[in-house]
Amino acid sequence: MELPFAESYRIKMVEPIRRSTRAEREQWIKEARYNLFNLKSEYVFVDLLTDSGTGAMSDRQWSEMILGDESYAGASSFHKFMNAVRDITGLEYVLPAHQGRAAENVLFSVLVKEGDIIPGNSHFDTTKGHIEYRKAKAVDCTIDEAFDTTLIHPFKGNVDIAKLEKVLKEHGNKVPFIILTITCNSSGGQPVSIENMKAVRKLADKYGKKLIMDSARFAENAYFIKLREEGYQFKTIREIAREMFSFADALTMSAKKDAIVNIGGFIAMRDKELFCSSCVFEIMYEGFIHYGGLAGRDLNAIAQGLYEGTEFDYLETRVKQVELLGNRLLDYGIPIQQPIGGHAVFVDAKRFLPHVRKEEFVAQTLAIQLYIEAGVRGVEIGTLLADRDPVTRENRYPELELMRLAIPRRVYTNNHMELVAAALKNIWDRRDTIKHGYRVVREAPIMRHFTVELEKI
Ligand code: F0G
Repeated sequence: MELPFAESYRIKMVEPIRRSTRAEREQWIKEARYNLFNLKSEYVFVDLLTDSGTGAMSDRQWSEMILGDESYAGASSFHKFMNAVRDITGLEYVLPAHQGRAAENVLFSVLVKEGDIIPGNSHFDTTKGHIEYRKAKAVDCTIDEAFDTTLIHPFKGNVDIAKLEKVLKEHGNKVPFIILTITCNSSGGQPVSIENMKAVRKLADKYGKKLIMDSARFAENAYFIKLREEGYQFKTIREIAREMFSFADALTMSAKKDAIVNIGGFIAMRDKELFCSSCVFEIMYEGFIHYGGLAGRDLNAIAQGLYEGTEFDYLETRVKQVELLGNRLLDYGIPIQQPIGGHAVFVDAKRFLPHVRKEEFVAQTLAIQLYIEAGVRGVEIGTLLADRDPVTRENRYPELELMRLAIPRRVYTNNHMELVAAALKNIWDRRDTIKHGYRVVREAPIMRHFTVELEKI
């Protein structure tokens, strides 16, 4: 008999979570102005808002926390951290940052100026935010297949090489670098293949451009390469990661994802000149170059987490849990982005709620329904997140209107996944009764989704 798949860890410490009633949740979400970010976490039963900083650290990571060296400069923690980043990425120059967007802020302060154009595969919202804040433009060159949720393609994070070359040909002088997000969060936690990285590198060389990798989920990307790309089956995750980064000039990393820590990030670079220029902004925005907004204990936990996050057994447990939820939804006939992503299941809200008009925030409507149904918090990846065009101030309607269910690392059990699936099935069964969504009462000029206030239509 084939043995069932079981988690590659056991639980040593638990945190109680509480159920609530539908009436309570209806009240709480109304008080939160229908913005799931405004809910107290104690009002949430299963929190799938994000997989960022929400993971469970291991016993070894907690041990490393105790060993943290809190010296301002030259701390052993910094050296442990730097050596781990060098070892995993192969990049020489390393700067810590308090999280991924802080790494973007430091690096983009050196590289991005007004009028620049930065092509890539569906830039993450903070990446786009840091580009647009500098009055530059992010151009999405993701392959078209990524925008059809029903289409199975092993690497939906890939860049369309023809689209990229067109941008480089037409605006070459305005492009400071190309950015590759691995895995591509915005297209559904979808990986980029080595073959595609090679092709992007070739174009970068042809046009004399840098290639930067947004590496928040690089280990999950490497896992998919091992499973799906010819020739990588027998390589270790770390060997694949090294090969991926061999194509990069620099990377930014939110360690809150694949390094399984609650806070932290970094930049790693090949070029000393770029490093020296970045140090200036690092010191202004993040702190001295040996701690960058983090405590010594955080640096230690990242170093340990980078090794744990690149273990095959851990990654297999992780991705299979996400797949369990996704497959359950598929069994129920619920439309999701396929193949299932590395860190999250993305529900296709337009196909789930066809009666709700796009002006009424379809994915947000679905996320609110799911919260009321079972206290499960997902997040809208749709029109609210896409925000307004910085010039015309019109709403941008993205091709995909998704509700993301992001799974924290090593936190929930498969029973929690079953509960989430059942809750969505209940909504699916009564989807025809859901006809209206929400309208905006108040919004911020940039990254409005975090603070937006809504009312029911
Ligand atoms: N890049 C990617 C691909 C991300 O997914 C994130 C964060 C960042 C950069 C920024 O990192 O949060 O540490 O500043 N993503 C989180 C999410 C917030 O929920 O997907 P950060």
